[in-house]
Amino acid sequence: MSAHPDKMDLPSRPELFDFHGVSMTHYFTDNWKNVQSFQARPDDILIATYPKAGTTWVSYILDLLYFGQTAPERQTSIPIYERVPFLEIMESAVDTGVELANNLPTSPRLIKTHLPIQFVPKSFWEQNCRMIYVARNAKDNMVSYFHFERMDMSQPQPGDWSSYLHRFKEGKIVFGPWYDHVNGWWKKKQTYSNLHYMFFEDMVEDTGREIEKLCRFLGLSPSVEEKKQITSGVQFDNMKKNDMTNYSTVPVMDFKISPFMRKGKVGDWKNHFTVAQSEEFDEDYKKKMKDPTLQFRTVI
Ligand code: PPS
Repeated sequence: MSAHPDKMDLPSRPELFDFHGVSMTHYFTDNWKNVQSFQARPDDILIATYPKAGTTWVSYILDLLYFGQTAPERQTSIPIYERVPFLEIMESAVDTGVELANNLPTSPRLIKTHLPIQFVPKSFWEQNCRMIYVARNAKDNMVSYFHFERMDMSQPQPGDWSSYLHRFKEGKIVFGPWYDHVNGWWKKKQTYSNLHYMFFEDMVEDTGREIEKLCRFLGLSPSVEEKKQITSGVQFDNMKKNDMTNYSTVPVMDFKISPFMRKGKVGDWKNHFTVAQSEEFDEDYKKKMKDPTLQFRTVI
């Protein structure tokens, strides 16, 4: 989740603390006043996710849809985390997510957030901004987050797999419980029509189809050729090779521990959960996920 490649002076791993009922680290609360008073514009597009649910993937798709033809030089010169600023991040007093967003020369501005629904700055609602939420099944999301915490020095220490599993279920990880996050945004969709809710698993299954749906939501009609190019450019292997999308330029991430573009699969959880852990997880999941209209796939 780090946004700033040039901040080599990060202190040791940050502490997790309770922030208005949600576990956070100071990187995402230090700039709170400016985040909350952020002035959205009507054409801003907010890309919202629980961490590790496919933010970078959808950010890149949107950037290509809007600016791939008009400003192709962006694709080879500006890393995705600068093209799509991370609103709530503050790793130093300069170049906060808010500042990066305020300085974006593009229209529309594409803005990333991991905030749970109740923390979204009110101007986004007042301006009736379009929002895209990406959700990923809990088990794969957790696996991805676990490996990310291992490799990103600006995250708390994940501990071993079984203690991480416990923390995930308790929601004691940055941005709080996965369960509240996906449900909160899902519920909002019922009353806020400018929200497009999508699933990581659907993207893996058929990226082209999901891009079509995105285009319909955004009112875009790229040519067949352009859509083909985008669909191919955003495939996992291509994004992994692409230094502008693979986060290889971020020094707080230790790719020797785990790469940012790790596997990009549905079902990798099977390589991590024991049968007993999986059963226990499912029991707890059933208790927390009561809305029958929100269904996730853990295999495709
Ligand atoms: S972050 O740090 O919250 O912004 O991370 P985020 O981008 O949301 O999630 C990273 C995971 O998404 C996978 N990813 C992809 N999978 C398939 N295809 C494509 N193109 C793709 N791009 C990113 C990435 O590999 C991380 O998942 P895991 O399971 O760890 O591989």
